[in-house]
Amino acid sequence: MSNPATTGTSPSLLARLEAMTAPELRRLLVEHLGKRKLGLYWESDAIARDAALNADIVLPRQHPELGHRAADMAADAPHRNLIIEGDNFDALRLLRTTHAGRIRVIYIDPPYNTGNKDWVYNDRYVGANDRWRHSQWLEFLYRRLTLARDLLAPDGVLLVSINDENRAKLELLLDEVLPGRRIGSLVWRTRDTTSAKDRNFSDVHEHVLVYGNEGFSFNGSEKTQRKYKNPDRDPHGPWNGDPLTLAFDRFDRPNLYYPLHDPKKNRWYPCDSNRVWAYATEDRVTDSSSLQSETMEEWIRREKIIFPDEEETRTWNTLDELLAAIDAGDVPVTPKRKRPLLTRDTPDLDFWVGKTIGFGRPLFKKHWKDLRSHTNPLGSWIARLTETHDDEDFTSLRSPQAGEGTEVIQEVLGSKVFQYPKPPTLIRNLLRQATTPNDIILDFFAGSGTTGQAVLELNAEDDGARRYILCSSTEATAKEPDKNLCRDVCAERMRRVSAGYAGKPGYSAAQGGEFAYLTLDRFSPADLPFEASTEHALPLLGLRLAQALPARASGDVQHIARAGDCDILLCTQVNADSIDTLAQWAAAHDVVRIAVYSERPESLTEALAARSVEAACYGLLDVLRQGQAGGRA
Ligand SMILES: C[S@@+](CC[C@H](N)C(=O)[O-])C[C@H]1O[C@@H](n2cnc3c(N)ncnc32)[C@H](O)[C@@H]1O
Repeated sequence: MSNPATTGTSPSLLARLEAMTAPELRRLLVEHLGKRKLGLYWESDAIARDAALNADIVLPRQHPELGHRAADMAADAPHRNLIIEGDNFDALRLLRTTHAGRIRVIYIDPPYNTGNKDWVYNDRYVGANDRWRHSQWLEFLYRRLTLARDLLAPDGVLLVSINDENRAKLELLLDEVLPGRRIGSLVWRTRDTTSAKDRNFSDVHEHVLVYGNEGFSFNGSEKTQRKYKNPDRDPHGPWNGDPLTLAFDRFDRPNLYYPLHDPKKNRWYPCDSNRVWAYATEDRVTDSSSLQSETMEEWIRREKIIFPDEEETRTWNTLDELLAAIDAGDVPVTPKRKRPLLTRDTPDLDFWVGKTIGFGRPLFKKHWKDLRSHTNPLGSWIARLTETHDDEDFTSLRSPQAGEGTEVIQEVLGSKVFQYPKPPTLIRNLLRQATTPNDIILDFFAGSGTTGQAVLELNAEDDGARRYILCSSTEATAKEPDKNLCRDVCAERMRRVSAGYAGKPGYSAAQGGEFAYLTLDRFSPADLPFEASTEHALPLLGLRLAQALPARASGDVQHIARAGDCDILLCTQVNADSIDTLAQWAAAHDVVRIAVYSERPESLTEALAARSVEAACYGLLDVLRQGQAGGRA
C-alpha cells in the first residue's frame, strides 16, 4: 500500500492542499514528517469516502412479526437477543450509543476481498479488477472496526476470521485500530481436498486473528491430575517427576554444568551439555543471595530430587576403560534422543573414573499443590476433531471436518442457501474459550447467522445465558432488489434453530431461544423532531438502558427497565390517563421512584408535581439525537 501524500495526486487532495493556509501546511508537514513510518498505508484520500459516512442519525425500528419468542417466554419478558438488518456501519453507530463497553466477544467473518464480488462498497460490488480494491476493502473495514472497538468490554476480545491471502493486510489494519492489543492468531484447516491452486501449492487453512483488551484471557482448560501420583505417601500430596534441566547449553550456563551427586546411594550423574541442570550447586555459589531459587543441594536435603531407584550403574576403574565405553556407546544417554552424556569432549573425564555412575536421570518432584496454575493455556493450533494429542500442555481447539457449515444450513433451512458459512462447531469452540456464561456476543458480518446458532448450542451445553447480536445485510442489488439475506436466511435460521429443527429440541428463553428483529431508519438531524417516533424511541431506550427490547405493552405508558428502586418509563402520550398511570406507578409496582421519558418533559414534571409525585422527566428528542457520528475525521 502506498501513501497518498507521497504518490497520489487525487483532485480532492490537491484541492484540500490549495485551500490550506501556510501555518496549516506547516503543521501538516510536521505531522507527516513525525508520523510513524512502520505500518499500513492505504489510499484513503484517493477513494470516494464510504457513502455510509454521513451526519445522519440512525434509529432502530422493531418488527415483532419477524422476531421470535420462546414458547416459555412470559408475555412481558423483553428480548435479549437481536438481529439487525442493514449496513453494519449503521448498526455499529447505533450500538455505540447502546452497548459501548458491554460486548465481551466480537466475532466477525468479513468479506475476504477475493475479487469475486463478495462485498459492496458504496452500493457497488468490488470486483477483481477494481483499481482501488484493496484500499476500499481496508477503508471499509477500518470504518467499521474503529466503531466496533468502542463496544468491547474492558475484558473483551475481537476475533476475526480471514484467509491466508488477506491476513497480513488485515493484521496490520487491526494493529492500527487496536494498537498493542494483538494476542495472536489461531490456525484451522478449512478443506480436505485440494483447492487446486497453481504452482503445486494448495491453500488449506484460514486464520482467526485475536485482539483483546487488557482484562481479556482465554479460559484455557483445567489441567488433569492424571500424571500426578503419590506412591511414597508424601504429605505434600500427589506429584509428578519433572525434568531437572534447563534449555541452555554448558557454554551459556557454565555454572550449571556439573556432575550431580546422589549422597544416599553415592552415585554420580553426568550433566547434559545441551541442557544444563536447573539449579546451581553450592560448590560454585559465592553469593547465595543472588540465587533465584534454592540450590540443588538444598532441594536434595528437602527430598525434592528423585534419584532413580532401579537403574543400570557402572564403575570405570581407569580412563582407558571409560574411553572404551565411550567409543562403544556404553555410557548414560539423554532420555529422548539417546545422545551420550559422556563423550571424549567432556571436560575433566578423569573425574568419572572410579565412581559409581547412574545410567538413569534424576527428576524434580513437582507437587500438584505447587503448580503456579492449574489451567492449561489455549494453544494457537486448531486441531481436527479426529486428531489425538495426548501429551499437550495446552488446550487445543477443535474444528470439524470440512463442509459442516453447509451441511448444517441445509439441515436447518432445507437447501444450501448460503455459500461458505462457517462451521458452528468451530465458532462454538472459540466462544467456549473466550466467553463466560453471561456475556454478549456480537457478529456484525453475521451472514447466515452461524454465530447465533453457536451461542445457543453453547448455552445449552453449559447452562449459560449468553446473548447474541447479529447484524446482517439484505444483499439486495439492482439485479435482485427483493433479496433479503438477513430476514430470509439469518433470522429464519435462528427462528428454526430456536424452535427446534430436524428432530432436535428447541431452546428455552433462558437459553436464548428468542430474538427481536430490527431494521434501521436514517434521519437528517433537522428532520428528526418531525419524523422520529415512539416506534424508534422504545427500542432505542430499551437497548440503551437495559440492552434489551421491552415487550410492547398496551396503553401510553411503557416500562423500559428497572434500576434499583427506580422504574424507567416511556410516556408516548401525555394526557390525563397517562398522568394517572404515572402518578400511581410507584405504589402499584413496588418501586420508590420513577424516571419518565416523553416528548413533553416540562409539562409532565408540572403535572406530576401537582399530584405530589416526584419524578425525573427527560426529553425524548435529546435521547434520539445522542451521538452517532462514526469513523475518523
Ligand atoms: C463471509 S460472510 C459471513 C458468513 C458467516 N460467518 C456465516 O457463517 O454465515 C460475510 C457476510 O457479510 C455480509 N456483509 C458484507 N458487507 C456488509 C455490510 N456492510 N453490512 C452487513 N453485512 C455485510 C455479506 O453479505 C456476507 O453475508
